[in-house]
Amino acid sequence: MADYDRKIRDLLKETRKAAEIILEHIEKGNCISIFSHMDADGISAAGIMGVALSRAEAKFRVRIERWFDEKIADQIAMERDSLPILTDMGSGYIDILNKSLKGRRLVILDHHQPNGEPDESFIHVNPGIFGIDSARDLSGAGTAYLTAKAISKRNRDLAYLAVIGALGDLQDKHEGRSLGGVNNLIVEDAVESGCLKVETDLLLFGRETRPIHKALAYTTTPFIPGISGEEDKCLTFLTELGIKLKEDDRWRALRDLSQEEKRKIFSGISDYLASHGYNLDATMGLVGAVYILVKEERWTPLRDAREFALLLNATGRTGKPGLGVAICMGDRGRCLEEANRALEDYRKRITENLRWLDEHPDRLEEMKGIYVLHGGQTINERMISAISTILSTNLPNMEKPIIAYSVVPEEGLIKISARTTEALTQKGFNLAEIMRIAAEKFSGKGGGHDIAAGAQVPLEERKRFLRFVDELVMKELRKIEDGS
Ligand code: C5P
Ligand code: C5P
Ligand code: ZN
Repeated sequence: MADYDRKIRDLLKETRKAAEIILEHIEKGNCISIFSHMDADGISAAGIMGVALSRAEAKFRVRIERWFDEKIADQIAMERDSLPILTDMGSGYIDILNKSLKGRRLVILDHHQPNGEPDESFIHVNPGIFGIDSARDLSGAGTAYLTAKAISKRNRDLAYLAVIGALGDLQDKHEGRSLGGVNNLIVEDAVESGCLKVETDLLLFGRETRPIHKALAYTTTPFIPGISGEEDKCLTFLTELGIKLKEDDRWRALRDLSQEEKRKIFSGISDYLASHGYNLDATMGLVGAVYILVKEERWTPLRDAREFALLLNATGRTGKPGLGVAICMGDRGRCLEEANRALEDYRKRITENLRWLDEHPDRLEEMKGIYVLHGGQTINERMISAISTILSTNLPNMEKPIIAYSVVPEEGLIKISARTTEALTQKGFNLAEIMRIAAEKFSGKGGGHDIAAGAQVPLEERKRFLRFVDELVMKELRKIEDGS
């Protein structure tokens, strides 16, 4: 514990350095350019910095990117007078940054696995550097939040956004699907600043907002085959369990149910999962910590932090990340309305993609050490991340990582989203390392976290890349088996 406290102290020292540099630039009247990642974590990180900078009366702009590459580095290099801040990206591409931006002031607030030592003019805040688990204990938004708090104590009321970012990155891997490690301190800040309440409950998606059968249909962690995405079947399933779905004329939501009714649903789903051959772990994921954003209106997707994260993801993945950033910065009007439409669109796309997969089982290929999902051009590169995450909880052999990819023909590359299990990472398996090594071997780029990683690789190298990943994974699995 004392050791963990020391790590946190070292991390906070680094956030103070970053804050000092940012304040210096604001003082000088320089513009600040935030570059952030397109997912929920990246968007909340951008929102946090956006509010912190506007409170400090800074000139700034925000750009949300699909991934980090040389093009972004070149763009930064051209904007000579601004201070660039990279949030939820950058650490995995230190080599590119060193090459293009040597000697330039740059702030990186990230949690991806670093791939080298940064140039001394960069401020690099990343929990991994201090031995903190960067896939589970702090997100990109969390790193941005701690820096915002170092800029001004007033920014403590932004802690809830970092909770959303961490949940968006699926960091709820501590006991009872809760956030832990440094994230715990952020949860405390959010509770104490009156924004958050944490309860234990069934984790159906849409606990505050939806009729129970819809909430059940929207639940994809764990993915329940025949139930997830299937509203009609959920209706039948719950009715057969004897759950009253309506009170007078109004649909009941999960929060309206008694403990007894919730227990009935839990054991109903457990029995269902068991009869379909799933282990207890999947069922356990159904109960846990619920993060309620008490200042948000009831019956909106902003009330439950996991739903808020999904909404942000939806804005990013449907090409409208600006809406997500605006919502994080406080917009609850037109942007929220549009974001809700993006959410519907996003859900529709996920359902369509999953249906397509169901109809084309040959698209899921089992190799020696991995599963490959050949998404082709049917699954869009922006959707492959979500599809890979969903599939990863629903594989016949959970010991094998899933390597899902989409083809991006206009750029002549494939976008890969790779996922593995908690169990394998606990044995030392590191998917980020595998993605990085394999991508670099075939003139691509890869990295991420031990449990979730990604890459972009030239289209013509697709087959060789996949074969090489399969070999690398087999080698790693053998190493783990041998205990070396
Ligand atoms: O770039 P960033 O760190 O924000 O993204 C992490 C990604 O990995 C998220 O899209 C998250 O949903 C995914 N993830 C996952 N399974 C995990 C942990 C993270 O699919 N167990
Ligand atoms: O895109 P996806 O959500 O599958 O990415 C999983 C994780 O891998 C994310 O944290 C993402 O930022 C990271 N990633 C990376 N380098 C890439 C592609 C993805 O670090 N080339
Ligand atoms: Zn992240």
